[in-house]
Amino acid sequence: MIFFSQSDGQVQRSEKEQEMHRSFRDRDIMLRMVSSSDADADRSLLLKAKCLFQKQLSKMPREYIFRQVFDDKHVNMLLVDRSSEVVGGICYRPFFEESFVEIVFLAVDYDYQVRGMGGFMMDLFKESAKLEMKSHAEGVGCSSKTVDDLNSFPERAAGRPFYIMTYADNFAIGYFMKQGFSTRIRFGCWIGFIKDYEGGTLVECRVYWEINYLRRREVVESMKEKLFRDMEKVNDCHVVHRIADYSDVKRICDIPGARDEECSTPQLQSGTALNRLISYLISDLKCNASAWPFLKPVSAEEVPDYHEHILQPMDLSMMSGKVERSEYSGIGEFIDDVRLMLSNCFRYNGKDTQYHKCAQIVQEHFGKKLAFYKHAIDRLAE
Ligand code: ACO
Repeated sequence: MIFFSQSDGQVQRSEKEQEMHRSFRDRDIMLRMVSSSDADADRSLLLKAKCLFQKQLSKMPREYIFRQVFDDKHVNMLLVDRSSEVVGGICYRPFFEESFVEIVFLAVDYDYQVRGMGGFMMDLFKESAKLEMKSHAEGVGCSSKTVDDLNSFPERAAGRPFYIMTYADNFAIGYFMKQGFSTRIRFGCWIGFIKDYEGGTLVECRVYWEINYLRRREVVESMKEKLFRDMEKVNDCHVVHRIADYSDVKRICDIPGARDEECSTPQLQSGTALNRLISYLISDLKCNASAWPFLKPVSAEEVPDYHEHILQPMDLSMMSGKVERSEYSGIGEFIDDVRLMLSNCFRYNGKDTQYHKCAQIVQEHFGKKLAFYKHAIDRLAE
């Protein structure tokens, strides 16, 4: 069981956050970790959690929610009020060996929504997951910890990087983004462990050991300050230039502080413009959440028969290399490489695979980008 008893300190928090911290400090809201795997688990709390999830996730089959909450591989991090009603919770499954935790689902009771509970719950969850990861690595249990432990987690010692993964309901993506999740999937070890869900978007959040998420505002403020101090050492971005008379500003170079080299290059060389556009399109593809299968060459070790079927492999890192070596003499060659990469994927992977789906998404995305930059592409092709 986890109880909250931290002192609030002098942290600058939003009103919502302050209220949440106060509720926990005064024990109006408390934290409980409950899992069916624990013989002493409070089953009534599990039932209440099941009711909360069923109410808040009304489109999910009720039976499915029941099974997940009572699954003994799952843990429920619950927020309860003074009358032991469950007002928020996260049902999750830790994959310690693979260094990630899957959130099966999470919800906050209607009466508590939009008051900061969802955000605070996620902060607690991140700190709690760290503690569990560390305890697992050290081979000790962590069943009876307080939130004080979460708040002053063992000297922020760096462990192996780990992630929180979940299929976010499309209505809740905004919430997950606010909590540091991204649709850009960099972590690969979830494959084969999490089922693919229709109607949800896979999101990931890397959990940083060195950040205390219960004090994240403080952390962000001090990082910002450090960043600005460091930037001042390498450039003059802190210098504020004033324009005395706006009628003197006719061109970009007339703006005080505009970078000299940008003003002195009258026209970009077409070769440079080509490489810039291709580099941009490659970075854009790399940023797409579904581009992870295309970032690096397919490994012959991991997929031994790949090169028997695919005679001309292609991936985004190979394309980046070609740009660096200025091997593209026209935009058409680059577009052909992207098409080759995707058609290889379609050819090798069955229609039902995640890889096939990713290739479809990337193809559609790339098509839109080409349409958007048509004017620039046409000019380069002239
Ligand atoms: N879309 C965009 N932003 C959102 C959303 C949303 N649906 N919900 C909350 N936010 C933002 C808030 O504006 C706030 O931003 P701020 O920090 O800039 O002020 C931030 O996220 C945190 O908001 P909270 O008030 O802490 O969140 P709340 O207590 O309302 O809880 C939650 C959010 C858990 C999504 C709640 O609305 C809920 O229970 N919804 C129904 C169940 C649900 O959809 N669960 C997720 C399903 S997906 C899954 O389980 C894997």
